[in-house]
Amino acid sequence: MTDNDGEADLEARLVEQERFEPPAGFVEQANVADESIYEEFEENWPHAWTRAADMLDWDSEYSQVLDDSEGPFYEWFADGTLNASYNCVDRHVENGDKNRAAIQWEGEYGETRTYTYQDLYREVNEFAAALRDLGVEEDDVVTLYMPMVPELPIAMLACARIGAPHSVVFAGFSADALATRMNAADSRYLITCDGYYRRGDPLDHLQKANDGLGGVDHGVDATVVVDRLGEDGFGHDLKGNQHDWDALLAEHTGARVDPVERSAEDMLFLMYTSGTTGQPKGVKHTTGGYLAYTTWTSHAVLDLEPEDTYWCSADIGWITGHSYIVYGPLSLGTTTVMYEGTPDFPERDRLWELVEKYAVDVFYTAPTAIRAFMKWGSEFPERHDLSSLRLLGTVGEPINPRAWKWYYKHIGDEACPIVDTWWQTETGGMMVTTLPGINTMKPGSAGPPLPGIDARVVDASGEEVDAGRAGYLTVDRPWPGMLRTLYQNDERFVNEYWQEYSDPDADEWVYFPEDGAKIDEDGYITILGRVDDVINVSGHRLGTMEIESAIVGVEGVAEAAVVGGDHEVTGEAVYAYVILEDGYEGTDEMQDAIIEGVNEAIGPIAKPEKVIFTPELPKTRSGKIMRRLLEEIANGEELGDTTTLRNPEIVEDIQVKVSD
Ligand code: WT7
Repeated sequence: MTDNDGEADLEARLVEQERFEPPAGFVEQANVADESIYEEFEENWPHAWTRAADMLDWDSEYSQVLDDSEGPFYEWFADGTLNASYNCVDRHVENGDKNRAAIQWEGEYGETRTYTYQDLYREVNEFAAALRDLGVEEDDVVTLYMPMVPELPIAMLACARIGAPHSVVFAGFSADALATRMNAADSRYLITCDGYYRRGDPLDHLQKANDGLGGVDHGVDATVVVDRLGEDGFGHDLKGNQHDWDALLAEHTGARVDPVERSAEDMLFLMYTSGTTGQPKGVKHTTGGYLAYTTWTSHAVLDLEPEDTYWCSADIGWITGHSYIVYGPLSLGTTTVMYEGTPDFPERDRLWELVEKYAVDVFYTAPTAIRAFMKWGSEFPERHDLSSLRLLGTVGEPINPRAWKWYYKHIGDEACPIVDTWWQTETGGMMVTTLPGINTMKPGSAGPPLPGIDARVVDASGEEVDAGRAGYLTVDRPWPGMLRTLYQNDERFVNEYWQEYSDPDADEWVYFPEDGAKIDEDGYITILGRVDDVINVSGHRLGTMEIESAIVGVEGVAEAAVVGGDHEVTGEAVYAYVILEDGYEGTDEMQDAIIEGVNEAIGPIAKPEKVIFTPELPKTRSGKIMRRLLEEIANGEELGDTTTLRNPEIVEDIQVKVSD
């Protein structure tokens, strides 16, 4: 299959169409269909946010919506108290929905497990009791290094129940990455798993976890290991402070733990994300604002109803999974689908098979996946009845209009609106997107900011740009789901996000997400991509510095520069320009060693697409590597100004190597 088949799949009518109205059948039943909601938020701001907070059950009511006295350290619903696990579990059991499916899990090989809200209630309680017995106290950070098994959301909710913030580390990350995050969070507890299946093979996850534990520079009080592989396991013995998940639950059968009353501003979880420097940023999210925000956006944007079966194909190890597999959908009492495997195993129709099997109503995925589906061809979705779908969503990177239209036609059958949702780990939930029951859709443009979100596109001096001009995305007012700080690093928090456009003397704070954007005459925002040294591969954020330091750690490497080059499926791909030490040569073995080095330091997602050995890197006279040029070379683009280079002669040399 070539890419052109995707094109041939779309008739000229669709290729040309630039605007799409929300289908009438959808609008009729939409949770939010009255456009006065935008005005209501404007006129009534910040009080209008009670609309989100009111979707939760509070132990004690808050008296103030927003405390902005210490910007940019904003507080939301601050004197209210609540528990996230109560809101995601208990209240549905109490409301008579105990027998509704909460989690519908499917393993790679088609084994299934259904957890009703009552099942979830039981296991969350039992595991919360087990955590307490292991010594976990309120505010202790518990690290969860787990693949897509139901025990992951159960562990998250158990942590939330006892007020212990979780820090989930994506299972695809390496042992080193785990150790870095446990060290940074001073986390003394680890919940992990023996392994999982990938394209038919069991993977040894516990070995990685144990290697990671070896790099933790403080004591680890306890590790809990989920047995996913059974007889396919790798035969690791559990060490002294390592416990088997099932045995722990058995010891706590029937245990009940009262949900701890947390203050709205208490930390719910930490999530590490890549930034410009090598050290990942520990994004702190809170109990009240985050849960209110993800619940509200799940209702308004994903249009979720308790009766729905909803599937977000992300991994819970990323923010998308936290907000829109676990917290938002479960808070609403929806059935959330979790799938362990990949979209193309055993066949390329695996996702559509599951949509049909579970009669999925709402489906949320990433543009990179859609581009892959498009490349594989429409015959795969055509094998299945996808008529249960009502709404489609995308997140993680810009979606090109062609992929949008393919998704609209071949998955949604031109009957489902698509929400292209722009947001970030830091924003906690969706920020810029159409409301599916209200707004016209324009493929390629995420849409207007959500009600109450003051997103703008400005120039370098902070002035709003004219329609059609490129600029920088900013957010002028706080919102409940925003990060509160970077863990134990208020200074870096201010420097990273509130430096460029704020006026601290006037107490005016403007959030800068480090994305380029443009805005059209209708106020629709098109995201142009990161403006910092962060690459977006398949919707995953990777810091170039992190990858560079991994490469420089390989024996024989003197210097490395990493940039993002365009990639047909993954959006961007890692291009590594490498200078070797004298006596080393750019052989295939050297290239393998570099790829392995990146695997070990970060994980396979950061694997370079191309390694280019060069005797020099293009540098300015002041010695700075000219990354823009390296990007242009990677993309085979015409080169911009090279007159400020100290070594212009190297450019052509590198160009030849890249095109090889
Ligand atoms: C970065 C955030 C939000 C969960 C997944 C990624 C890019 C995100 C879109 C979109 C264009 C997007 C931005 C953003 N991004 N959504 N709909 N259109 N770009 O979370 O790892 O924190 O990455 O992803 O560049 O800054 P993340």
